Amino acid sequence: MNHVPTLTEVAHRALPAGHFGNLASDLALVEGRGGHVWDSEGREYIDYLLGSGPMFVGHAHPEVTAAVMEQVPRGTTFFANNPHGIHLAERIVDALPCAEQLRFVSSGSEADMYAMRAARAFRRRDKILKFEGGYHGMSDHGLMSLAPKRLANFPTAIPDSAGIPARIREDVLVAPFNDAAHAVALIEAHHDELGGVIVEPFQRLLPPAPGFLEALREVTARFGIPLIFDEVVTGFRFAYGGAQSYYGVTPDLCTLGKIIGGGFPLAAIAGRADIMAHFDRALVGDDGFLMQVGTLSGNPVASVAGLATLEILRRPGAYEGAFAMGRTLIEGVTKRLQDAGLPGQVVGEPVLFDVVFAEGPIRNYRDMLRADAKLAGHFNRHLRGAGILKGDSKYYISLAHTDEDIARTLEAFDAAITAL
Ligand SMILES: Cc1ncc(COP(=O)(O)O)c(C=O)c1O
Repeated sequence: MNHVPTLTEVAHRALPAGHFGNLASDLALVEGRGGHVWDSEGREYIDYLLGSGPMFVGHAHPEVTAAVMEQVPRGTTFFANNPHGIHLAERIVDALPCAEQLRFVSSGSEADMYAMRAARAFRRRDKILKFEGGYHGMSDHGLMSLAPKRLANFPTAIPDSAGIPARIREDVLVAPFNDAAHAVALIEAHHDELGGVIVEPFQRLLPPAPGFLEALREVTARFGIPLIFDEVVTGFRFAYGGAQSYYGVTPDLCTLGKIIGGGFPLAAIAGRADIMAHFDRALVGDDGFLMQVGTLSGNPVASVAGLATLEILRRPGAYEGAFAMGRTLIEGVTKRLQDAGLPGQVVGEPVLFDVVFAEGPIRNYRDMLRADAKLAGHFNRHLRGAGILKGDSKYYISLAHTDEDIARTLEAFDAAITAL
């Protein structure tokens, strides 16, 4: 009899490494509803991967689904202004302290690339300062010192990927996250070359140290250097007004993705009107004009999904519920790790965190390297076996998770900790 290839075998034949480049696993997901997903083998999971973050209100939320189902038969893309995209832009601009205007793109990577380009166009300087361990998408500039295997002296940038032109390194300065004095000194020394400073206000899992974002704000404002907050993850998640309102520091530009598209490809660059003016040739002329075109930008299906998602998030209690569930999980796992005498701690904020197996404070990328990745791998594998799905390094909490999900997850923690 002929062998009928399994889905995993087909994946390994058709895809390099056997996957899409996202979750490095043979798992194939076929369905998501609320805070749960199902794989092709019929197994159910409590889902803390959440599509890497977009599904903050849960998979297939009835209101998001209804909005999409209404739009699809009316046309799915136009390459022209459409009312939904315009209304979504207005909603976002009204929500975020830094946002006077925005431009839509299709992915967070693009948003970051254009935000850095807009800053450079505005400042007429080439260099970008970023922080070691900070993720700003897949562009040549973004992929510097995200996860360097070799540690260089600051501010030397280390490319994370093959294929990036060597000279790009010279245009990126790298500083340690959460060290305000270091960053301020570097910016003071290089201010005349800097086009912009980009930072994740909450870097991967790391909350900003008190005063860190404020110090970046002060020094960049002093020299007129655009400060970019990468809010692809934190936008509309930490608060309706993003990390900039959660932490109380307003950048000049920010980038958004994930939640604003409600599970469809949509991202944005938002910020001060005088910087966003570079997207308008009539305002800045040929020399200052930043060319930006994208086939699917402002896509109406993504826009209605985003509008429905933001509508849900605007309701009283939306954030409080998700934060409360996250706090219960964090307190529960922390206590269990302590009782078991395991050197683990939770790093993050209530709606986005992970268990890090390391002692002592974790404030930056180099501190994270102290963590026992092998132990974390075992822990995560036990959890997966118990029906808990997460990415390698994050728990994303959803509004759609339930108290029962949280209770079941705590039971899975018990079993995983016992197994360790
Ligand atoms: C902080 C941050 N910036 C940018 C990106 C890139 O976004 P995308 O995957 O939509 O290109 C991500 C993706 O996870 C991210 O976490």
